[in-house]
Amino acid sequence: MTSNPVTLPPELVDRLRPVRSVGVITGAGVSAESGLQTYRGPGGIYDDPEEGDRTIEALSGETILIDPDRTWRAIARLAKKAGSARPNRAHEAIAAIERQVERFVLLTQNVDGLHQLAGSKNVIDIHGNARATRCMRCGARSALSSLLEIETAPRCPECGGVLRPDVVLFGEMLDEEKVARMYAELSHDPPDLVLLAGTTALFPYIAEPVLRAVQAGRLTVEINPEPTALSSTVDFVLREKAGDALAALAEAIRREQKRG
Ligand code: OAD
Repeated sequence: MTSNPVTLPPELVDRLRPVRSVGVITGAGVSAESGLQTYRGPGGIYDDPEEGDRTIEALSGETILIDPDRTWRAIARLAKKAGSARPNRAHEAIAAIERQVERFVLLTQNVDGLHQLAGSKNVIDIHGNARATRCMRCGARSALSSLLEIETAPRCPECGGVLRPDVVLFGEMLDEEKVARMYAELSHDPPDLVLLAGTTALFPYIAEPVLRAVQAGRLTVEINPEPTALSSTVDFVLREKAGDALAALAEAIRREQKRG
């Protein structure tokens, strides 16, 4: 992946010096440079005229109850398209920012686990992790080493029940504990800097922490090559790829922290 050095606006760099706490909110765009499809937009998972709506149906809470093989086949199909994706510069830059500040939280909608692989520690994966599983009969949790070969729903090693992926499927509720953490760590007392990267931010619970940060007068930055509903609300918009912009931001935060 070629890099394109980004020059940050000087007014943004000036405002990074007093930053002691950072919240980062990510979506599928941060994994695009790892070769993963986004959900929306050209070439996105939902853009496929043959499979788009069928994929949504297969990945729903209703389908996994009546036809779990179908849900798992859809997951295997997406996993095959993703290949053996590795973290990219965006994931690495986010992990680097966490090491540089006193307080850090990452809220991600991605289920690919790439942030954790890149070394991010305080992660709220609000939509879960596709490799983690939960037994629909006994509730035991386990993890799959690969999603590629799946043709039928995997079975629980403890009780033989059908496993489900530990992700939020369409029509399902969010995990209450994660929602509570999201409010406690992001919304209640917003971090000094909130970065929104690679997401259309369509879900209210993703937009809400950004709006709270704006209301509280915190610094807010969007990183996205395309406009989103929050572009006009945040302080700065970097119309760049996540890898380029986050690498520049991580470096600027490191420099300004040293000076400050
Ligand atoms: P989307 O597919 O809606 O949006 C991806 C965003 O990434 C778009 O705004 C793109 O412009 C942007 N983008 C693309 N390439 C980029 C790059 N290299 N750098 C930075 N940005 C880039 O994905 P999400 O917003 O993550 O939920 O979608 C949110 C949720 O909708 C997903 O978690 C999924 C889906 O339904 C569930 O499955 C529950």
